[in-house]
Amino acid sequence: MAQKTHRVVFQPDGRTLNVRAGQTILEAARAAGIPMESPCGGKGTCGGCRVIIPRDAPPPSAACRRELSGEEIRRQMRLACRVRIDRDLRVVIPEETRLGDQKILTEGVERNVALAPNVRKVAVHLPPPSVSDQRADGERLLDALAEKGLPDLTIDVKTARDLPERLRSLEFHPAVVVIGDEVVHLDRPGATEACYGMAFDIGTTTLVGYLTDLTTGRVVAVASRANPQTAYGDDVIARIEYCGREKNGARTLQTLVIDAMNEMAAEACRRADIKPSVVYEVTMVGNTTMNHLLLRLPVTQIARAPFVAASAAAHSVAARDVGLRIHPLGRLYTAPLIASFVGADTVGVILATGMHEGDALRLALDIGTNGEIVLGTGQRLLACSTAAGPAFEGARIRYGMRAATGAIDRVDLEGDKLILHTIDDAPAAGLCGTGLIDAVAAMVEGGVLGANGRMRAAADGVAGRPALARRLVGGDGETAFLLADKKETESGHPILLTQQDVREVQLAKGAMAAGVEMLLEEFGAEIGDVEEVLLAGAFGNFIRPDRALAIGLLPRVPAGKVKFVGNAAGAGARMLLANRHLREVADDVARGVEHVELSQRPDFQARFADAMFFPAGKT
Ligand code: FES
Repeated sequence: MAQKTHRVVFQPDGRTLNVRAGQTILEAARAAGIPMESPCGGKGTCGGCRVIIPRDAPPPSAACRRELSGEEIRRQMRLACRVRIDRDLRVVIPEETRLGDQKILTEGVERNVALAPNVRKVAVHLPPPSVSDQRADGERLLDALAEKGLPDLTIDVKTARDLPERLRSLEFHPAVVVIGDEVVHLDRPGATEACYGMAFDIGTTTLVGYLTDLTTGRVVAVASRANPQTAYGDDVIARIEYCGREKNGARTLQTLVIDAMNEMAAEACRRADIKPSVVYEVTMVGNTTMNHLLLRLPVTQIARAPFVAASAAAHSVAARDVGLRIHPLGRLYTAPLIASFVGADTVGVILATGMHEGDALRLALDIGTNGEIVLGTGQRLLACSTAAGPAFEGARIRYGMRAATGAIDRVDLEGDKLILHTIDDAPAAGLCGTGLIDAVAAMVEGGVLGANGRMRAAADGVAGRPALARRLVGGDGETAFLLADKKETESGHPILLTQQDVREVQLAKGAMAAGVEMLLEEFGAEIGDVEEVLLAGAFGNFIRPDRALAIGLLPRVPAGKVKFVGNAAGAGARMLLANRHLREVADDVARGVEHVELSQRPDFQARFADAMFFPAGKT
């Protein structure tokens, strides 16, 4: 019997598709290739997948009633993951639910590294064979390469199959492509310049790829994307759970990221006016889950005690085997991992910042859903990860959104006047991570929030700040603070910061701060001993340090010690592409870093609870 289908029109882009009856709206949106917020991966617990069904909306489910306000439900808002399609529907996806177009950080620290790539392309002139020189074609080629200073190479068997014909068609003057110790391709003479690689930083939220000319070391094009896996959960745990739940879940996630990497490679090549077939190697850093999904290694054990990776080693595999469309014999190098939740991205940060060298005590923070912290010197490095939650990505925040057009990204308090700034100066659509930190800092500074994070009741007012007091509203049984009134917003509805939102910020910043404290204690140092606090990652680069210090997200150091290092993980991936010898250093770093498992520390919970307080009177 034919399966019943319904027609669903997604607005505002008008994409229309026929959907099997019983699918959820979230599943249908994924099938239509519409990236949507779904931090919990479709479990109905995050409230991220809000959509509006203007006509004929089904009654709100229990999850909708829990996650949405009364006002939102009246506006026919529902959770896309909780609505099963049983009729033709028109579905509006609001700006704050859509993924994509967010600001992605592509710059990073630059350290000078000697150019010694793993890929070399060398022109050779071979003497043609004769009766007095009957060396095999392969040996003839290897001898010529040895004379050029490339001894001890081997020839890939696939290359050897074509070798006689290829050598002769090139009149024994090939440009030879060597990857590692292996000859993989013979190009036409004079093509030695066309030798490229691409370095990828595969983050949970964003992907960045740097197309690099391997003859000069220069980055010639950069491409970035939101990680399309986000449609299956904002954090790695939600994605691992999806893989455990769905038979082909891991395959789906792997395909998504590989497709995105191929698109990025194609886009970068187009911009640089080269063919993907002259890209011979890809390097990749990413957290353990991203690394395992890409390599098709199992992931479910990462999220189950005792939380182990399948392999922490660096791997070099045929790019084709994982579906990467570069040169058919190109390679993919994945950098080594430190632990299950401290991945190769942290190795990249260490390499790029040089934390593994010198005597200065430095602290590096990568603030994200999974916050990673490294502390130490060239003699000893400690690292931990802490589940900061997705609040700073805009998730689990009532009006949270990613850093895209219309997001409130800056909030200042002048007297008792609140000054808001939005991305692209568009009408306010929601609040992104930096705006969230600023807003909470302003509320602490203005006396709206106590040190324990409690918001003053609307009836109690705010001493000496009547304009701020007027922003306190009691709605849906919860106190909230009015950030933007309906005249300032895109939707015509006010944007509020709720008590629950403040709690989410406290959880996120408490987790980071407690992690820093535990590492300092383990190292036997005080925060005053730290010479530099390095802020890495997409989010860190947009933070205003004084605001982050004001809410205690950063440890109390003079603002002058805080240094932005940008996408240091991506910079690490580029260094590993430009210099093959650094791969041994990366192995040493990954093996040498002491991983501190916070959950094993008996006092972690108490520290965490303490760290949730705001620094009173220090703003
Ligand atoms: S509530 Fe629908 S994805 Fe989380």
